[in-house]
Amino acid sequence: MSESFARIMNQHAPWHLECVICGATYSGLELRYRCECSGTLDVIHDLSKCELTREELDRRLGSKNPLDKSGVWRFRELILPLPESILEQIAATRGEGSTHLYETPTLAEKIGLENLWLKHEGENPTGSFKDRGMTVGITLAKHIGMSAVACASTGNTSASMASYAALSGLNGIVFIPEGKIAFGKLSQALAYGAKTIQIEGDFDDAMALVQEVCDTEGIYLVNSINPFRIEGQKAIGFEILQDLDWEIPDWIVLPGGNLGNNTAISKGLLELYEVGIIDALPRLAVIQAEGANPLYTAWNSGEEMNPIKAETIASAIKIGSPVSWRKSMRGLNKLKGIVTEVSDNQIMDAKAMVDADGIGAEPASCATVAGIKRLVSEGIIKPNEKVVGVLTGHVLKDPKIVVSYHMNELPNINSKRANAPIRTSADIDEIRRVIRQ
Ligand code: F0G
Repeated sequence: MSESFARIMNQHAPWHLECVICGATYSGLELRYRCECSGTLDVIHDLSKCELTREELDRRLGSKNPLDKSGVWRFRELILPLPESILEQIAATRGEGSTHLYETPTLAEKIGLENLWLKHEGENPTGSFKDRGMTVGITLAKHIGMSAVACASTGNTSASMASYAALSGLNGIVFIPEGKIAFGKLSQALAYGAKTIQIEGDFDDAMALVQEVCDTEGIYLVNSINPFRIEGQKAIGFEILQDLDWEIPDWIVLPGGNLGNNTAISKGLLELYEVGIIDALPRLAVIQAEGANPLYTAWNSGEEMNPIKAETIASAIKIGSPVSWRKSMRGLNKLKGIVTEVSDNQIMDAKAMVDADGIGAEPASCATVAGIKRLVSEGIIKPNEKVVGVLTGHVLKDPKIVVSYHMNELPNINSKRANAPIRTSADIDEIRRVIRQ
């Protein structure tokens, strides 16, 4: 334990940590990710003191203060309420968030909805929603004097961590499943200078190993088991509501892998409700890939989650033992939520639709749209309900899969919306013929 960490631990934080299973509490800056009973931890704020209003949040949209310009730190009182003077010095921010909420009438019509918006989290600095959690995780690492950070990742967390660690002068170490992450994401980890360890195993193996290494080596773990990552990701929900001028949609829909993101969105919305900034709550739908569906199975059986060996084309959510399943279920219960699953074919078909709309997103993100389509066809989402889908990652994270889809070269995938390139000789008449066809 570093000297500065020991010093900080004794400092008071205006929040505390609480176990999701037994309710045991710990001080806000204690370096732990699990309770003595092994339950994961929540950051619990004293919301009775929060005086944040819609008007103040809207005022910040036009401010030049770097904290206000971040779509995470704009909501700082609900995320990491350290004194402003400290945050101004230590916040590791790249201006994350403030992503577009696209109104998508063409896609809505194809799916059978009157109103569909897509919140494009791929527009974050490193191309995924992970930046929202990472800015908070890395800021806390700095605050408590850590010099190294680590994560296990299906690719986006590692890209984000590598960038924010570099920005903050911390050593970044990433654990990735060998050969199973998209090239764009691997490129980012390498480019931003993280020590990149490719594990012979899957994400779940990497996750188990990184927890052990962090414990023994004094490295700060920034996977979403770290409750401060969850705090940052709450801002997705905050921003969706601010984008909609504080009108509450009927549904927010997003993909589920390690289950941190839906945990974050439900926690954030419940807190926003508690402080009176909103007076109603949307419902939440979590979409899993058929081959990586432990939450879906547990949700339907009403029992505890059983880990599985995951397999899906959407490598970002190829996770069989999600760390945050308990918190995820708690949030779903409170937001009248639902969990469904979609096949790889449905994911890739939905992706072709999202991409062809000019928006584009990576496969896991498009589980969102495949799931909305399924829920509309089953009558669970009604045609006149207002639906916001979260697109979690950028289309260029995984260019190989895009090209393979359009060349109809993906095993077991029927590329029914393929737009294959047309090969011609370098002959003007031939080209004219192709164009006129
Ligand atoms: N979509 C994308 C693009 C992701 O990268 C992830 C998770 C998810 C959805 C699922 O979110 O885990 O909070 O339920 N990616 C992690 C990673 C696991 O390592 O980048 P979740």
